[in-house]
Amino acid sequence: MKGRFITFEGPEGAGKTTQIQGLARRLEGLGLRVILLREPGGTALGEWVRNVVKHDATGEALDGVTELFLFCAARRHLVERVIAPALDAGQWVICDRFLDSTAVYQGYAGGVALGVLNEVNRLAVGRCMPDRTLLMDLDVGVGLRRVAGRASDRDGADSFEARGLAFHQKVREGYLDLAARDPKRFRVIRADRPTEVVAADIWERLRDYVA
Ligand SMILES: Nc1ncnc2c1ncn2[C@@H]1O[C@H](COP(=O)(O)OP(=O)(O)OP(=O)(O)O)[C@@H](O)[C@H]1O
Ligand SMILES: [Mg+2]
Repeated sequence: MKGRFITFEGPEGAGKTTQIQGLARRLEGLGLRVILLREPGGTALGEWVRNVVKHDATGEALDGVTELFLFCAARRHLVERVIAPALDAGQWVICDRFLDSTAVYQGYAGGVALGVLNEVNRLAVGRCMPDRTLLMDLDVGVGLRRVAGRASDRDGADSFEARGLAFHQKVREGYLDLAARDPKRFRVIRADRPTEVVAADIWERLRDYVA
């Protein structure tokens, strides 16, 4: 069976990381080879960018254009080193955030012009566009409360989580706009339901790939 490239997107606390774990186990149960990645991350460069951008490692404020280039540099590197070879080898790749996060956080919510942003994103991604993107949609207040209550924050404090409610509202609306523009790639998942119900919905939206 052909490998597939699946990405998860959505605002803070929507349940992306939770659902990815369950989906990977389920796919592996079918004997498929699955690679789990997160963005930024997945390479030494990607983890370095994660630390700089999400955890303010330099102590220097970064503007949206700077963030765009850092994320896209890490994305390009991840595509070349990990994603393209894995897909070529017939593996499934599941990525926790990918190019759409840049479109909404730096573009829709961050104010970088979408035209040029999309070009940079396209350059970074090359031939590795996701086959399907699951957009976990959730009220931003609920999502931020979930994140605040996350028992052990595996990833430490996050500069994006700290931005205001209006910013996160733009993130949510940006995602929904992207999904409306590209219904072929996107599936919108209502993430306000119990974990198992959301998981079943996600599985249903991937059924054509695993049947
Ligand atoms: N369907 C759900 N209902 C209630 N709580 C949930 C649900 N799914 C996940 N959670 C909880 O919400 C919190 C955030 O979940 P998770 O870390 O999976 O979200 P995320 O989308 O990956 O967030 P981030 O954008 O910060 O990475 C966790 O404490 C998780 O246990
Ligand atoms: Mg997560």
